[in-house]
Amino acid sequence: MQRAGWGAPALTSTMQEAPEVPFYRHSLTEEDIAEVATVLRSLFLTTGPVTARLEEKLAAYLGVKHVVAVSSCTSALFLSLKALGIGPGDEVITTPMTFIATSNAVLHAGARPVFVDVEPATGNLDVARVAGAITPRTRAVIPVHLYGQMVDMVPLARLCRERGIAIVEDAAHALEARQGDVRPARLGDAACFSFYATKNLTCGEGGAVATSSDELKESLRRLRMHGMSRGAADRSTGRHQHWDMERLGFKANLSDIQSALLVHQIDRIEEQLARREAIARRYEEAFRGIGGLDFPRVKAGNTSARHLFTIWVPPERRDHTIAELERRQIGVAVNYRAVHLLSYYREAFGHEPGSFPIAEAIGSRTITIPLYPGLTDGEVDRVIAAVREVAGSW
Ligand SMILES: Cc1ncc(COP(=O)(O)O)c(C=O)c1O
Repeated sequence: MQRAGWGAPALTSTMQEAPEVPFYRHSLTEEDIAEVATVLRSLFLTTGPVTARLEEKLAAYLGVKHVVAVSSCTSALFLSLKALGIGPGDEVITTPMTFIATSNAVLHAGARPVFVDVEPATGNLDVARVAGAITPRTRAVIPVHLYGQMVDMVPLARLCRERGIAIVEDAAHALEARQGDVRPARLGDAACFSFYATKNLTCGEGGAVATSSDELKESLRRLRMHGMSRGAADRSTGRHQHWDMERLGFKANLSDIQSALLVHQIDRIEEQLARREAIARRYEEAFRGIGGLDFPRVKAGNTSARHLFTIWVPPERRDHTIAELERRQIGVAVNYRAVHLLSYYREAFGHEPGSFPIAEAIGSRTITIPLYPGLTDGEVDRVIAAVREVAGSW
């Protein structure tokens, strides 16, 4: 497979050069780019036949009845909540150890995010604590499959089903994840995916919802396009047909240009997962037994999508470690500091340090290191050596 070259971007005065081992490097091929060029040379640029092909391929990959492509995972989460009729006066349970998109989507729907603390070994929503957070207003739970490992879906689904509570999975990290026979969208009402610039599948910005419900699929298709009864593809073919608007929707569709970049990536999903798995295992082996250093564990029976690899370092050494890794030309990130302690959430909801201690502890210790299929063995060695060296100086 011919990889596309990464042409050096023109640097503006505010841009810094990427580190020698960048945090992320995409694996787009000439075939992906050619598919985009084909769309650009066609008549139809927005949501049309290529997006329909993408939706079919993704549904087949996931083994789920429907996929609706949208503009981002944020809009996938938001539209799923809207399609389920969730709004003002409702509560949605989720985790504070996530990207702000998860709880922001709840706020945009007009509902209240109710946080529940996470498991210390995985950073995932602790399902055993969910029952204690349910009130008569609880309408949904958003489990976030953090870093690619699924939340314990069987007990969560049992709990929610008994109480008529919906499940909207935030599977932004977890397209490839498995838990025995369970995959995203098997036990949840909907599962939401991201094709953001650094995700396992990427078109820069994009997302999708998978669902086995015909009703939810129809709602999502309309909500992504203003609530119109016909999409642009229907309107552009054949003779004019009037459309109606029955419900207030949004503008959150994915264009054929973006879908074209994704359609062939689906064929490489498993090969790329295998490479990320091999890298993650090398990291795990190398970091076991280093004093003060730990990392989230993948539970027996789970297949992680291996989206991000995070290390946990002593909280008082975290910023120093970030600076030292950057000085060694290793690209790093922090996924995540606990959401409830960010200024907006503190001010709006009165959260204080100590409200969700496990998420807070993880949030103060986390550093994400590079993990993507294009990392060479030499680059993996370099990351390991840099982490070992910095840990040796704590
Ligand atoms: C856990 C999680 N949820 C949601 C999102 C939002 O995805 P998007 O940028 O496609 O809206 C992200 C993106 O980073 C994420 O990591």
